[in-house]
Amino acid sequence: MQINDVKNIAVIGAGNMGHQIALLCALHGFKTTCTDVKPDILKRAETFADTYLPERVKKGKLTQAQADVARANISFTPSLAEAVKDADYVIEAVLEILDVKRKVFAEVDKLAPSHAILATNSSFIVSSQIADVTQRPSQVLNLHFFNPALVMKLVEVVQGPHVADETAQISLALCERLEKIGVHLKKEVEGFLLNRILKAIAREAFWLVEMGVASFEDIDKAQVYGAGHPMGAFRLMDLTGIDLAYIRMTEKFRETGDPADLPPPSLVERYMKGWYGEKTGKGWYDYSDKK
Ligand code: 3HC
Repeated sequence: MQINDVKNIAVIGAGNMGHQIALLCALHGFKTTCTDVKPDILKRAETFADTYLPERVKKGKLTQAQADVARANISFTPSLAEAVKDADYVIEAVLEILDVKRKVFAEVDKLAPSHAILATNSSFIVSSQIADVTQRPSQVLNLHFFNPALVMKLVEVVQGPHVADETAQISLALCERLEKIGVHLKKEVEGFLLNRILKAIAREAFWLVEMGVASFEDIDKAQVYGAGHPMGAFRLMDLTGIDLAYIRMTEKFRETGDPADLPPPSLVERYMKGWYGEKTGKGWYDYSDKK
């Protein structure tokens, strides 16, 4: 297969990342089908497309014709079978839980055409932990977008030992088609490139808060006004999801048993209260006055 053979893309999971990845693909000329097991999340993704596109037209970032083509390119269905039946490329963006992903990949493998590449957008689960449930491990890899996926340019293409060169090359070419900057990881490594760096920053930021050295607001200010970062670690956590940070740390602790890997108390408290960040209206900061 070559990049020119990729016409139809299926995005599985319409949550924080999936809804924007799907719209991104539609905006770049791919017939895109987006699916989710939760009807409310799927509906929200469709509503997002229906509000985002007109806003971009109003802002002068898209012509009406471009918006119309993108809207015609994207469809939403609750049926996984329907979503992947004609897919040349599948991007999974479901919950960051290994068993869930393995189940999804096993199903998709049965339902998608045999030539299709199956990518996971996982932040930390490497595709070699998933590929063995399929009959096509050489076509299974990580394609990792960043939040918000419509805006952030970076995409990490992670080529584990089982991944064919052709799969990695088509995925890098897909990044180009999507006007993203694809970076090629030739080995699977925890946190890939950027999350490894962001994790180190978050670890220090948490330490400063937990030790009572400064408020989380001031730590964010230090990053923004001292280092020119677009947002500090806590604001960023609200964007990417406190639930995701909690799950990631809990999974890590399960793996290592090292108390240093446990989520810090300030994170556990917010997770337990259901303060997951922007998406729930509250996290480190309060977003209840925003729509
Ligand atoms: N969805 C879609 N578009 C958005 C958006 C969103 N949630 N938030 C902002 N935008 C768009 C705006 O429409 C605007 O587009 P335009 O310039 O073409 O009109 C542009 O982004 C800039 O928006 P604003 O002027 O409103 O706001 P900012 O200039 O503050 O930018 C930001 C917002 C792009 C989110 C910026 O703060 C930023 O870059 N933050 C850092 C984000 C980051 O680090 N992401 C990586 C997270 S790690 C990750 O994703 C890993 C994963 O594994 C969890």
